[in-house]
Amino acid sequence: MSRAFLLSIQNAVGAIGVKGRTPEASNCFATELNVIDWHDPSAWFNADVWVIGVKPNQFQTACVPLKSIYDAARHKPTIISLMAGVSLATLETQFPNADVVKVMANLSIATSKPVFAVNANRSLEDIPFADVLKILGDLVVLDEKEMHLATVLLGSGPAIFLAIQQRLYESGKKLGLSDVASLQLSQGALSGASALSVNQFMPQDIINQIASPGGTTEAALNVIEYSELLDCCEDAVVAACGRSIEISYNGQNNANSD
Ligand SMILES: NC(=O)c1ccc[n+]([C@@H]2O[C@H](COP(=O)([O-])OP(=O)(O)OC[C@H]3O[C@@H](n4cnc5c(N)ncnc54)[C@H](OP(=O)(O)O)[C@@H]3O)[C@@H](O)[C@H]2O)c1
Repeated sequence: MSRAFLLSIQNAVGAIGVKGRTPEASNCFATELNVIDWHDPSAWFNADVWVIGVKPNQFQTACVPLKSIYDAARHKPTIISLMAGVSLATLETQFPNADVVKVMANLSIATSKPVFAVNANRSLEDIPFADVLKILGDLVVLDEKEMHLATVLLGSGPAIFLAIQQRLYESGKKLGLSDVASLQLSQGALSGASALSVNQFMPQDIINQIASPGGTTEAALNVIEYSELLDCCEDAVVAACGRSIEISYNGQNNANSD
């Protein structure tokens, strides 16, 4: 996720430095992204923004080398957290008096215009460098409770659509298509849906345009409605949201979000 985030902001900000878990990881990351290797924490004294994109259960460990630098820095960096399930309060405990922005996105931001769900401990207008997010993508500003739903709809959402694509692909293959043809057709379906789902269009209105009465789409949708497949979507969102809340509260030690 950090890689995708950096790729999405790369052209809009100044120097970017990266730190991985080990010197080798930092170097590898820096070379791949053509940014600066900042494994040595002393370089961070002058950074305006720190982006933290480890898994939530790695957060406390990742903070260890950051803490003393942060405490000693006269000019406190803006903290951007990509971590689902790490609350503002937890971040503020590690980084007292910092401007903190929680950002939820998904891996597609590296290649398409991002949608960022954001939640901050101050008004975004008052947070230095938060405006970069506004320039780069569509911002959905939420309160902390709503961020759990952003984690599910925006963060996990692509996997939900891909699970349906997987089933379409498997059906095509089972019913006689070659592996490659079925994969390509199901990819075309997903990218077609994505291209149509823009601006303020409601998905149901687009479905109505695709599904002519008595046609093939209607035949498929009738079966889907009948099987109550789509009803379980709400259960899936509720389950994932519950997990997000669980992770947030128990947090930092046992979280394992993706
Ligand atoms: N995956 C998604 O689609 C998605 C969507 C929305 C939000 N997120 C959020 O993005 C965050 C990262 O998720 P991910 O799926 O991208 O995880 P990931 O692939 O495991 O990436 C985390 C990176 O952090 C590194 N790391 C771990 N401990 C570190 C430390 N102490 N110091 C420096 N670097 C350290 C890891 O290195 P190692 O490989 O050595 O462990 C790894 O390169 C999570 O908090 C998740 O909630 C992810």
